[in-house]
Amino acid sequence: MNLAEEIRRLSKNKKAVILAHNYQRPEIQDIADYVGDSIELSRKAMIERDAELIVFAAVDFMAESAAILNPNKRVLLPTLEARCPMAQMLNVEEIKKAKAHYPDAPLVLYVNTLAAAKAHCDVCCTSANAVEIIESLDAETVLFGPDRNLAEFVQRKTGKTVIPVPEWGFCPTHLLFQPEDVRVLKMQHPDAVVMVHPECSFEMQNVADFIGSTSQMCRYAMKSQAKTFIVGTEEGLLHRLRKDNPGKKFVLAYDGAVCPNMKLNTLERLYAALKEERHVVTVPEPVAKKARKALERMFEVTS
Ligand code: 13P
Ligand code: SF4
Repeated sequence: MNLAEEIRRLSKNKKAVILAHNYQRPEIQDIADYVGDSIELSRKAMIERDAELIVFAAVDFMAESAAILNPNKRVLLPTLEARCPMAQMLNVEEIKKAKAHYPDAPLVLYVNTLAAAKAHCDVCCTSANAVEIIESLDAETVLFGPDRNLAEFVQRKTGKTVIPVPEWGFCPTHLLFQPEDVRVLKMQHPDAVVMVHPECSFEMQNVADFIGSTSQMCRYAMKSQAKTFIVGTEEGLLHRLRKDNPGKKFVLAYDGAVCPNMKLNTLERLYAALKEERHVVTVPEPVAKKARKALERMFEVTS
């Protein structure tokens, strides 16, 4: 049996739509209906009105957001254990403490959070729109979580005071990138353009020519006249970059930059999930209702 063909056949029969994040394995990206960054996939999940099933090849918080935004559709996460460690770094206790310290500051949460945390925030954001969201707020001091690097990036861009909650939330994969590695690669590729994700450290952001979400990097590479790119994000993005830009060269800024959680999804697991219609992601309605408000507010600001 050709697994890829079988998945496509099953998906059609079950009126499913397969969404894959830019960090998924190449074979998953290749059979997906859509490949994108976190905000693009959330939007896709909402506009696919005829779909009865959404198979979300990514990690927990992305599938949870799709379930929150689509209460009438079933959302499947192929691997139940595919969890983002950054999302686990922020709990409700921490949020309550921060709000008690800064009662007048709005709370903006990165979508890389669990639904229970989202339910306590004023508005959500992704790395693609964090600056726009913070700028839209009528407040000079803002609480922001859980990624400290993204918080600092937004603070530099907006000039507002952005307080990280918790103090040290981070992505273990993006923390692996070091500016020294980029300097060595620049010696080998002197004309290369450096693109990094805002989850990278301040030092990495300082050596970058472009900082953006995964799909923003794709668009930047397409438009750029440059022929070589050094890329500071999870290695899965290179598949899409190479596919979309056959004449250009993409070099990962650190070979070990792999998100083990994203990589838990395999074609076999995706096939089993679709066939058995598991694992259905659910969020209790009282939590979903509040989290939905924060996600919808993000869409209102960015539409
Ligand atoms: P993007 O929204 O840029 O795709 O990022 C999601 C993510 O998990 C980055 O590590
Ligand atoms: Fe989470 Fe980092 Fe993996 Fe993105 S790359 S899903 S932030 S652990």
